[in-house]
Amino acid sequence: MVKVPTKLVSWEEIVEWAIGLGKKIEASGWHPDMIVAVARGGYVPARLLCDYLGVTDLLSVQSQHWVEAARAAQKAIIRNAFSIDARGLRVLVIDDIVDTGETLALAKEFIGKAWGPEEVRTAALQWISPVAKFKPDYYYIEVKDWTWFQYPWTRLEDLMQFMERIFKEDERARAGLSDEELRSLFREWYGVGPEDFGSYWQLAIERLVGEGKVDFRDGKYYPSRGLLRG
Ligand code: ADE
Repeated sequence: MVKVPTKLVSWEEIVEWAIGLGKKIEASGWHPDMIVAVARGGYVPARLLCDYLGVTDLLSVQSQHWVEAARAAQKAIIRNAFSIDARGLRVLVIDDIVDTGETLALAKEFIGKAWGPEEVRTAALQWISPVAKFKPDYYYIEVKDWTWFQYPWTRLEDLMQFMERIFKEDERARAGLSDEELRSLFREWYGVGPEDFGSYWQLAIERLVGEGKVDFRDGKYYPSRGLLRG
């Protein structure tokens, strides 16, 4: 049984989805004057939409989940908040995915209050409808079963986190894993193949060793003491 259902998304799919999203926006008869990417996931979709819709004003706000130090609860915050005068403008805020929906909802609220635009609408390539508390005005794909979408712009970051989790949580990793064993555990956990990550695979494991999270000795990888403690 796969522990974390994962789908590897290709650059080609991203382009196809962004065009599909652009078509939906166009078909609604509404045209934004300005596009705002929610950092960081919205960057690539926002740039592709600017191209499709012929929009030249592209900005970004950083709306992120923040783990409160004392609690496990997470809430979204706007980082590096800044203000512009958007009076009279139709603003489209875009993110890659609406999962809980908190980050996009907060970005919309912030822009609406702080920038004073005529209208703010929201868009995402994907919307996970059963878990999201917020439905974007425009989306291309409705996801019915929660999945981790491994987008092409987070290959290294995700891969390192995927591997770290195996070393931390899988008992079998404590006895040490050969590269082949790590690959096979990876398939078991995530349902995707290491081969799909190309040169990122080697980079990710080297970084984990470099950061002291994974030890490498006698041809095997082990979780470091620090990783198991933390
Ligand atoms: N960011 C938040 N939720 C996500 C998901 N399910 N897949 C990829 N990126 C995400």
